[in-house]
Amino acid sequence: MDFFPTEEQKMVQQMARDFAEKELKPRAAEVDATRRLPLSVLKAMADLGMMGINIPTEYGGSQSGVVSYSLAMTEIGKGCPSTAVTMAVTNMVAEVITAFGSEEQRAKHIPRICGGEYPSGAFALTESTAGSDPSAMKSVAERWGDEYVLNGSKTFITSAEFAGVFVFWAKTDKNAGGGGISAFLVEQGTPGFKIGRNEEKMGQRGSPTNEMAIEDCRLPRNALLGQEGEGFKIAMMALDGGRIGIGSLAVGIGLAAIDYATDYAKNRIQFGKPISSFQAIQGMIADSFTELEAARLMVLRAAYLKEKGVRFTREASMGKLLATETANRVCYRALQMLGGYGYIKEYPVERNARDCRVTTLYEGTSEIQRLVIAREILGGNYV
Ligand code: CAA
Repeated sequence: MDFFPTEEQKMVQQMARDFAEKELKPRAAEVDATRRLPLSVLKAMADLGMMGINIPTEYGGSQSGVVSYSLAMTEIGKGCPSTAVTMAVTNMVAEVITAFGSEEQRAKHIPRICGGEYPSGAFALTESTAGSDPSAMKSVAERWGDEYVLNGSKTFITSAEFAGVFVFWAKTDKNAGGGGISAFLVEQGTPGFKIGRNEEKMGQRGSPTNEMAIEDCRLPRNALLGQEGEGFKIAMMALDGGRIGIGSLAVGIGLAAIDYATDYAKNRIQFGKPISSFQAIQGMIADSFTELEAARLMVLRAAYLKEKGVRFTREASMGKLLATETANRVCYRALQMLGGYGYIKEYPVERNARDCRVTTLYEGTSEIQRLVIAREILGGNYV
């Protein structure tokens, strides 16, 4: 067992930290207020290798591994969660194509994702009546000769309005439940593929969350990702990895909030002393850093197992559950430390609390993580 990061992991973490401090943190309030993420920032991140941290260099990735990815994601999450979720989904899409794509699909899309030619990728799974239960999706892909014809709609799709490529899930067999779902690669601008409204959200407001409508969208046979009927498993495997990203991001938001509140406590004078000298405040600081550190270690363990090629479904769900619930608790504690100032927009903790809220919802709610963990344990996958 070794808790020390390698030189490469430290370097990636430091690079992400510097970028977040210099480029993201100063603009995070503006990104929130304007609901606009500058695409130039995403390109700069791609140039630094952050859009394919766990992707082989032969496809333009950094090949720095999953632990590096988790460390970087925490730093970017600390600076700007809207940017971090865009990075998370983009890395997830690059990894899905690497794992399941044909050589032609990999060569076409992955260098464009990693190099920033595509501002991001998108993961089009969720539908209005198929959220926690994606196997209930209604989108269909019918085979017509050498083509598939897609019809349906999607909801809550991160980055859909600027993504270069979508992994899009649809049923090729309506009567086969999850086993009838297939995954496709669809490029932005494909006729029949319409991007709808950007939802007005509570937090992570700079990251667009779009509706999509798909009407008679014709795709060539080679747009299929993996095999027909393999789509549900592709989604589940991608989400296992995605949950490491979201857990890491949540730790970053929690750290941003408690770092700020701790500095505030050192300077806020009440009863003639800095409030950091009161035990009630010290308890909040100690609990917050301890709980975040525990969550960070659990997420890093899932990252480590993934990197070693070991099954990590349970650990990823445990890490996401603990990290996202902890980070929300820490944000509310940090807000409490600021008192009335925590509740106004002039101070970043109000935004941290809003940005953190969605982390227990997307890429599987906390209830779904508990379901996955319990199934794994009851199925005997626990040592
Ligand atoms: N890895 C590989 N295979 C898996 C798997 C995994 N982690 N989980 C399930 N499977 C396989 C099973 O082995 C099973 O295979 P067989 O049919 O061959 O036996 C098949 O998939 C079906 O599995 P289940 O019976 O367990 O499926 P289920 O319908 O009961 O669902 C679930 C399981 C865990 C609840 C799943 O539906 C789930 O994860 N739901 C949450 C969906 C989600 O996270 N959505 C997020 C949207 S994307 C997003 O938020 C991105 C963003 O923009 C930020």
